[in-house]
Amino acid sequence: MNKEQFQLFPIKTDINKLDHLSIGGCDTNELVKEFGTPLYIYDEFTLTEMCKNFSKEFKSRYPNTEIVYASKAFSNLSIFKILEHQGLGLDVVSGGELALAESINFPNKKIYFHGNNKTRKELKQALIYQVGKIVVDNFYELNLLNELAKDLKITQDITLRLSPGIDPHTHTYTTTGTLDSKFGFSLETGDAAKAFDTANRMSNLQLTGIHFHLGSPIFELEPYAVAIDKVLEFISKLELDNQKQNLLEFSPGGGFAIGYIEKELPPPISSYAETITKTLKDGCSKYGLAQPKLVIEPGRSIIGRAGIALYKTGSIKVIPNVRKYISVDGGMGDNIRPALYDSKYHAVVANRMSDTRKDIITIAGKFCESGDILVKDINMPIINPEDIIAIPASGAYNSAMSSNYNMNPRPPILLVNEGKAKLIRRGETYKDLIQYDIV
Ligand code: LLP
Repeated sequence: MNKEQFQLFPIKTDINKLDHLSIGGCDTNELVKEFGTPLYIYDEFTLTEMCKNFSKEFKSRYPNTEIVYASKAFSNLSIFKILEHQGLGLDVVSGGELALAESINFPNKKIYFHGNNKTRKELKQALIYQVGKIVVDNFYELNLLNELAKDLKITQDITLRLSPGIDPHTHTYTTTGTLDSKFGFSLETGDAAKAFDTANRMSNLQLTGIHFHLGSPIFELEPYAVAIDKVLEFISKLELDNQKQNLLEFSPGGGFAIGYIEKELPPPISSYAETITKTLKDGCSKYGLAQPKLVIEPGRSIIGRAGIALYKTGSIKVIPNVRKYISVDGGMGDNIRPALYDSKYHAVVANRMSDTRKDIITIAGKFCESGDILVKDINMPIINPEDIIAIPASGAYNSAMSSNYNMNPRPPILLVNEGKAKLIRRGETYKDLIQYDIV
């Protein structure tokens, strides 16, 4: 593997004496023998390094920064514990994600509750757990939340989710901050200004700041700079009973990219940090605003590189002059991203790492859909049945968006560190699949 390819894998990746892929000091082939395939492995060292990196790069430039992990990227109790230990907060978008956090007593004040249609039940759950902030998305929620907080006789801190109308140039399905988006109060339509006015008049809500999220993954820095400046200018011009809006918190969301293939590596975290903190500082002085707390919400960039997926190869179909399909024992059930977003991935043969490249193949999944292709037309060694394929950068939005399509059980998930592997989610069984149905 070359230097760029190593950057796609967890930091503690090696090729051992047996020519096997090793992650966190564990031979992946041995793990496959013990746990089977498909198998997901997370490297603890990479995870903690990413947390430290974000902390260092942002706080050295802007000490008043809070890092909040977007748990939709991968929700797991062991992972939440590690993140809590690293001092991160948690962004949740459902009662389910919140329930996981509650089950390990995740510090409530470090929880941000997001979502464009939080239900009455979910809002109540968040109020009762006394989460730090509820990020209000729309007028319906503003009224409903105030009413619920009043019933419970509490005052809830909120921030407003704004839609700044900036295109971050990513997949349309994961673009969120443009005019035609279901998320947030639009600056363009006048809703944002109206939302400040309404929120400030709510008896049981305390407006503390704003949030926006442009999309994900964002490989460019410019959209962050343009959006931050635009939102600060907007805030400075708000006329609220002749008072300036006092911003205690400012969040430009998450969306920081990771490398999936060697040809598309993202800017380093330091560049995102430099752009965001500089634009925020410059904007505050330009528009005469006090510097607020900066809240960033990385999901993918915290957990994505830490995870790899392992599969075993099975059937091989050669269509002369067209394509060679190598099928593996997982696919769109554990990674929907290629089918949904046309996402590109790298792959290696984990049991013959130094084998030189001789073939162009397409790695297909086992699900009953022609679109179930994990990697299209990739250079790889000649592959035989029962080889082990490893796909890096699989830590974010794979397991998180997994399904039981075709009644395939979800794979087990391991956490590796210093040569030890720990099961952090057991694999599903057929019994698990059957248990919900009633005859
Ligand atoms: N904050 C908010 C409000 C968000 O909506 C998201 C992601 C994040 C933070 C974290 O974004 P990240 O840092 O992970 O890029 N399923 C898609 C990604 C959807 C992202 C949804 N929101 C994918 O697999 O690429």
